[in-house]
Formats: sequence, C-alpha cells, structure tokens
Amino acid sequence: MRINLQQAADILNSGGVVAIPTETVYGLAARLHDESAIKKIFLLKNRPADNPLIVHVKDQANVAEFSAGLPDKFDRILSFWPGPLTIVVSANLKKVPSIARAGLNTVAVRVPGKKMTRDLICLTGPLVAPSANISGRPSATRASHVEEDFGVDFPVLDDGPCDGGVESTVIDLTGAFWSLLRHGAVTEDQLEAVLGKPVQSAGAHDRPRSPGQKYRHYAPKCKLVSCSNRRELAQQLVRGGFDAVLGFDDTAVNGPVVSLGDRARPWQNLKTLYSTLRELDRLGYSSVLVDMDFEGAGLGHTLKERLTKACEGEN
Ligand code: TXA
Ligand code: MG
Repeated sequence: MRINLQQAADILNSGGVVAIPTETVYGLAARLHDESAIKKIFLLKNRPADNPLIVHVKDQANVAEFSAGLPDKFDRILSFWPGPLTIVVSANLKKVPSIARAGLNTVAVRVPGKKMTRDLICLTGPLVAPSANISGRPSATRASHVEEDFGVDFPVLDDGPCDGGVESTVIDLTGAFWSLLRHGAVTEDQLEAVLGKPVQSAGAHDRPRSPGQKYRHYAPKCKLVSCSNRRELAQQLVRGGFDAVLGFDDTAVNGPVVSLGDRARPWQNLKTLYSTLRELDRLGYSSVLVDMDFEGAGLGHTLKERLTKACEGEN
C-alpha cells in the first residue's frame, strides 16, 4: 500500500512500522525510542536478535547525542554526509535502546542522502531502518520489492527506484585502526583519501565485526553457481543443468543471459543488482550460473562481495 510522507509519519508516531526510501535501498523503519515497534521489525524480517540496526538521523548533531565520545578526525566523516556511509561508534547506552544495538555497546549511525528520508525524520525523530527485505533475500530497491516480501497491504513510502541500489558502507571507528565492516556505496579508496589514513578490512578475528556479515544474504530462491572466469563458465555450461547465466552485456554463451549491464561499469551493475536477482525468480529459473569475471576493485569489489554472498549456502 503506497502512502505519503504525512501518513508515514503518522504510522511511525503511533507505534507502527513502514517501509521508507533511502538513496541506497528501501528500509523498514521504526522510531528509535519505540522498542515495541523495533521488535516488530525483527519479527517481520525474521531477523536474528543479535544483528543490530542502523540509526538514521537528520544531521550530524544527533551523532554526538547517541555516542559516548567521537573519534579523532570525526569531522572528516562529515564530507560523506548526507550519504551512504554508516559509522560505528561507542554508544551512549542511555540514549540508544539495547534492542537497536542488539546488546552491543556500539551504535551504527548514518545521515541518509535522500531528502525525503530526512524530511520524514524531521517529523518523527531518529529512525532505525534495516533493509526492507525478509532476512537473507535480496534488498529492496523499489516499492514493489517491499510488497513482494511483506505483501501488498504493507505501507510503503514510495519514492521510485533507489538511486544507488546497494547498501551503505559500514566503517567501525571505535578501535585504534578504523575498519571496514561492510563494503558498500562508498569505496575504500574514497574513505582513505578523505580520512588520510588506511582503513582495514575487518578480518575473521577482529572485534567487533558486523554481526550481519555472518548471515546469508541477498539470495534469490533459485540456485546460483559462481564461475570465476570464462573457462569455468564454459565448463559448467557443457556439464549442463542450468537455465541461464547472470552476466553482462558481453557475456557470450549459447543460451539465455540476464545482464547486469556493462562489465566495466560496476556502479551501473549495482544499481540493478537486486532487482535483477529478484527477476531470476520471476522468470522461473531454478539454477543459474554467475559470470564473476570482472575487475574486483572499488565498486567492483562491492559487486563481487554481494554476488559471492548471493551464491553461498543451500538453496
Ligand atoms: O544502506 C543501508 O545501510 C540500508 C538503508 C535502509 O539505510 N540499511 C541497511 O541496514 O543495510 P541492514 O540492517 O540491512 O544492515 C546493517 C548492517 C548489518 O550488517 C549490521 O550487522 C551492521 O550494519 N551493524 C549495525 N549496527 C552495528 C554495530 N553496532 N556494530 C557493527 N555492525 C553493526
Ligand atoms: Mg540488510
């Protein structure tokens, strides 16, 4: 059910949950101080209780309120805001409900780039908003994706397709070394250029890792099989049993190709990634090969990481 800005604010202010647009993906929003509405988000998404939520604020002034001390060089972060960068800082435990932090003593915060999202926050106060998909499914980049997962009666503030199409980058600022917890719309190079120091990718033993990273993600219902180069793709095709290839405009195979666009333009590929993954199910495919033969730098890294996760695990 499509709703307008005022209706979205009214539902949130009376304890409800609505889907909201952001510049990255649609989010499932509740007011930060409404614990029972936040519980509904976990239930609706079937989200593990140990996976914390991002707090969306209208400007940086709120960050000082929610954190227990800002790190050095915090002001440099501001050049990414409003925009698709989420920072993890120590939480002011009195101001951020435990359920939103999943019991951690840190909190993730971002100022969304879309004006409509910030206009809504002005009417409701800070909002928690995980991506608006059932846990494990591809994120929603259109109102219709939200309806696919939560039903046509679910209230969605529709602002058309998301501009970015991939989630925010998450960076942990709590340790001596700043670490990248989730690759996303802002690249490692962009971060290092602005922050003036190296950013580490979080390794398996680092604490705190992003709890969300241990769960299965972005998967359509059909089985996806990753092929790291053209030879592997050709071998799998000979072996048979696949309905199509998820690839690029120049993926040359004998059979149907669902294209993510130009292989050299990862930002374009990311914009349509989630709708294309959902499209594979609509087309009725049960088994699809994935052409992973592309440059894995910058946003290409983000694309590779999302596709790899989509291929992982049982289908
Ligand atoms: O672009 C986005 O970030 C979207 C839009 C709606 O804003 N939101 C989003 O939220 O992707 P979600 O919940 O799907 O992903 C948030 C990620 C999860 O991997 C979660 O574990 C991590 O951020 N996270 C949240 N709070 C954290 C914390 N305190 N420490 C470490 N990781 C945290
Ligand atoms: Mg998500």
